[in-house]
Amino acid sequence: MTSQANTLLNFPAHRPRRMRREDWSRRMMQENVLTVDHLIYPVFLLEGTQKSQAVASMPGVHRVSLDLLFPIAQECVSLGIPVMALFPVIDTTLKTSDGKEAFNPNGLIPTAVRELKKRFPHLGIMTDVALDPYTSHGQDGILNEQSHILNDETTAVLVQQAITQAQAGVDIVAPSDMMDGRIGKIREALESHQLIHTRIMAYSAKYASAFYGPFRDAVGSAAHLGKADKKTYQMDFANGDEALREIALDISEGADMIMVKPGMPYLDIVRRAKEAFNYPTYVYQVSGEYAMLKAAAQNGWLDHDAVMMESLLAFKRAGANGILTYFALDAARLLKERK
Ligand code: PBG
Repeated sequence: MTSQANTLLNFPAHRPRRMRREDWSRRMMQENVLTVDHLIYPVFLLEGTQKSQAVASMPGVHRVSLDLLFPIAQECVSLGIPVMALFPVIDTTLKTSDGKEAFNPNGLIPTAVRELKKRFPHLGIMTDVALDPYTSHGQDGILNEQSHILNDETTAVLVQQAITQAQAGVDIVAPSDMMDGRIGKIREALESHQLIHTRIMAYSAKYASAFYGPFRDAVGSAAHLGKADKKTYQMDFANGDEALREIALDISEGADMIMVKPGMPYLDIVRRAKEAFNYPTYVYQVSGEYAMLKAAAQNGWLDHDAVMMESLLAFKRAGANGILTYFALDAARLLKERK
């Protein structure tokens, strides 16, 4: 062996660090990017005017009345956020066991949709299709005497809810209820009402997760739900194959987009979903994930902006086309600053 070969053998044959040396070099080999186009901003809507209530378990998040939502919608437009997702806080007096306020055409959500689309025709609006904000028991569906959620009876109400939202002009209906067959029924009803442009974003792989806690506080369903859980319709977090079967069903029934929820602990599901179906795939960074990061940042234990951007980019790397996140405004502002 020559002395030169001998010397070379003492060094790594490959030096991946070479490409990480300068910022320009790191940028030119970057595989994934996050832009404002990938963000969906969820908001909590109150009845009335001039009302704003902080959600204690979600620092930075407020429930607001429609008049105070307009400037937020304007900011979404200015920043280029494509879609805002509306979640209602329904007055306790309007909650019933059958959740019929869900399809009141003059209810909180249909009214907000009409007013927002009038003022912001180029901002996408998405609404949740599920009964939990409207039921006195806090479940997403209708119960029988044994407190079991009735699938087909619930689906019939969800169809009415989706049609009411679509007739109010919503761009995307997002069934988050996990009843069997509801995507097909909603698509059929949309078609028969000539609502052919209404997109369906199906919460296909929605897990029975403890990370929804702060959301249930925010919409006020936690107290109604009590100690009950949603395990007969939301999925067992031990399962991955089952998520792919749920997604396959929703796509075959007419979903335009599919969703995985929660986000950070389920990146494997996002990746598998994207690879199995090559379909527009979204992920929900839910309230509990937001609360964790915010709380740690407030304590000075994590760098807020850094972990926010890292968590969002991780969704892109996993294969998501977009992210529903309470960080959407913060992230969009930061992306604009950095341009
Ligand atoms: C209800 C719904 C939930 C969320 C969105 N829609 C909660 C639940 O299933 O109990 C949770 C979102 C979040 O935690 O941010 N259909």
